[in-house]
Amino acid sequence: MITNTELEQKGNQFPAQITRYEKKVDTFFFYTINNVVLQVTIFRDNVIRFRYATDGVFENDFSYAITKNVTKGYNKLEIEEKDEIYSIVTERIICEINKVDAKITLLDAKTNELINKDELGFHWEENYHYGGNIVKMSKNTIKGESYYGLGDKPEHLNLKGKRFQNWVTDSYAYEKNTDPIYKAIPFYIGLHNEKAYGIFFDNSFRSYFDFAYERKGVTSFWAQGGEMNYYFIYGPEMSDVVADYTDLTGKPNQMPPLWTLGFHQCKWSYYPESKLREITSKFRELQIPCDAIYLDIDYMDGFRCFTWNNTYFPHPKKMVKELADDGFKTIAIIDPGIKIDREYNIFNEALENDYFCKRADGPYMKGKVWPGECHFPDFTSSKVREWWSGLFKELIEDIGIKGVWNDMNEPAVMEVPNKTFPDDVRHEYDGNYCSHRKAHNVYGMQMARATYHGLKKFTYPKRPFVITRAAYSGTQRYTSTWTGDNVASWEHLWIANVQAQRLAISGFSFAGSDIGGFAEQPTGELFARWIQLGIFHPFCRVHSSGDHGDQEPWAFGEEITNIVRKFIQLRYQLLPYLYTAFYKYQNKGNPMLKSLVLFDQKDIQTHYRTDEFIFGDKILVCPILEPNAQGRRMYFPRGNWYNFWTDELIEGGKELYVETRLDIMPIYIKEGAIIPKFPVQQYVGEIEIEQMQLDLYYKCGKEKSFLYDDAGDGYDYKKEGFSLRTFSLVGKEKEVIIQQYKTGKYITGYKDFKIKLHGLPFEISKIQLDNEEMKFEMVKVNGDNTLIIDKNFTELHITG
Ligand code: GLC
Repeated sequence: MITNTELEQKGNQFPAQITRYEKKVDTFFFYTINNVVLQVTIFRDNVIRFRYATDGVFENDFSYAITKNVTKGYNKLEIEEKDEIYSIVTERIICEINKVDAKITLLDAKTNELINKDELGFHWEENYHYGGNIVKMSKNTIKGESYYGLGDKPEHLNLKGKRFQNWVTDSYAYEKNTDPIYKAIPFYIGLHNEKAYGIFFDNSFRSYFDFAYERKGVTSFWAQGGEMNYYFIYGPEMSDVVADYTDLTGKPNQMPPLWTLGFHQCKWSYYPESKLREITSKFRELQIPCDAIYLDIDYMDGFRCFTWNNTYFPHPKKMVKELADDGFKTIAIIDPGIKIDREYNIFNEALENDYFCKRADGPYMKGKVWPGECHFPDFTSSKVREWWSGLFKELIEDIGIKGVWNDMNEPAVMEVPNKTFPDDVRHEYDGNYCSHRKAHNVYGMQMARATYHGLKKFTYPKRPFVITRAAYSGTQRYTSTWTGDNVASWEHLWIANVQAQRLAISGFSFAGSDIGGFAEQPTGELFARWIQLGIFHPFCRVHSSGDHGDQEPWAFGEEITNIVRKFIQLRYQLLPYLYTAFYKYQNKGNPMLKSLVLFDQKDIQTHYRTDEFIFGDKILVCPILEPNAQGRRMYFPRGNWYNFWTDELIEGGKELYVETRLDIMPIYIKEGAIIPKFPVQQYVGEIEIEQMQLDLYYKCGKEKSFLYDDAGDGYDYKKEGFSLRTFSLVGKEKEVIIQQYKTGKYITGYKDFKIKLHGLPFEISKIQLDNEEMKFEMVKVNGDNTLIIDKNFTELHITG
């Protein structure tokens, strides 16, 4: 009898002595005497890919995460062979490879400082049961090192001392520290000695990260199959690490339609039609701005995707049109499970074309979801994705649905212990046939991708909008996301805050939580505090499970309604600011929310802060996360900050007590900032914006601000149909100078700027616009330091 004891006893294996290397353009291959090959590819001066084959042969090189648009190219690439090491040198990094054991050391090329070093380095265990290896990497933790990233983990922002798993999981009513939940984003950032680097472990199998949890001085990551394949991204600025990771895995493919940055109202479920209309009318009646209304699963016929329940919604097209006339965009949910039903055309089509996932021995994968027993399309097949995209034609083109919400795409299966497919389910993985062990973490991403392509096609010439629950690295190219089934508790408000920041640091900025909590019911106070936080998340939607009571802005009495209105109005005022932040994210990969550590990594006080964050790059917010709070302590990062409500100036770099009545939340504006604002609208496009307000916060010194405009929809912006204004402010004791520089050809609807001056330390005696003195009557409104000037000015001098 043959047994595998020998194999089982092998335990960890390691690369042995390197005997030679080869170079092919930007890639080096190092060969060891025990058949390990280490591939080192230089993407950029600060981005290096490491990949290991354990018996001489690499897998087909394929990744759903890495975008084809990734920026490549370096200024310098040299290799030097020394006695004990090979040293690869770029302009930014020195990568040393030890000849004896293939261990890697990474240094800053300018300062020679140590950035990252293998401890055991790469090692592996053979996997007798499934074949292949369990691939492992361990690195030294450097003194004082902190860790950030990993997507949606409901944990403290700083991951040090903890262990995590990446396995996309339906997690109804998850808790603080539940792991894993909905997303798998195997990317983290390390920070020590003021320098940051990132590691993206591009392996879709179940993976683990241990940040000095098991062994104090060691950080490691491993996966249950596939290759050790990771990207090292050197900053040293953390914001550059995030931008470069986002460049690697993709920025959103296009700007979102502007209305998607407005307020969204959702519930499981609004039906029948009369109920839906009651909700939308109430928004308009109470003058609470809202742009999107959602149809959860009950709009369908027996939860069959792409069908309608004709009793609840007898005339969907007419309804959607009338809602649109009133400024509401209708968004519909679509889940992956297709009801097993011979009378159902979509089921039959998928069956006939062999689009459903199968078990290893041939039967279809069968599992229960909302419709009962279902089969599931294999979204890792391009044919299936194409078919799926096509299914949206009627919903979008004919009925007029404006966005699609993909849910249960982990994929979630009910009434089974592992909540998803069994491991043996087969997937095409675009020609790299594999089991669910490898495809699980990308399944939801590929569904969202197929949905995105459908929407893109059928909404054209407008822009698509998709929301997904499950995600793997790179999903941000196609869709927005929310943090799944949270709970109406104060703890969950804390979690929502951390998750949105963490997703932004992990390249996925277009995210938000179910405001108010999905399960259970919030008190009015909790709801108000959640709205206050939620308006500062790129995706801003109220959603609830619906079986615990109402969760509309008016469900908690007049006082709360008024607070909620005030904050949603603020959201609408800040739309141009938010849109500009989105532009920077879409264009450069800059995260739209910045945890304090991302904002100022050199200030060690920021390394363990979780509550405060920067919205865009100029607005500091600190949510109130406790009941009955009349105030709280918050940390002000270095620099000076204006209180948004009172204009009081605070010197940062310290913690202070701030007052926070229920109708107030701590919001501070960075000194020198110019914040663009719209007037309040009930929905995007309700009124023609004739004037753009610019709130200017005086600073003695220099500061740059930006304003991005385009048509708010469509693709003209890709052909110069945008306008990007850079405002350079220089403040002196008795003078403020603002220079404007503009690129792009878009002509904005507004003609003027209404500049509102905050914190000016002098009385104005003279105003000069492009070298011409302006009469006070022309520029002063209400005698309150407000001036109206032509939007195309080049230089404005305000003198005391
Ligand atoms: C899942 C979703 C939730 C949705 C519900 C019904 O629980 O996470 O948002 O309302 O399914 O579709």
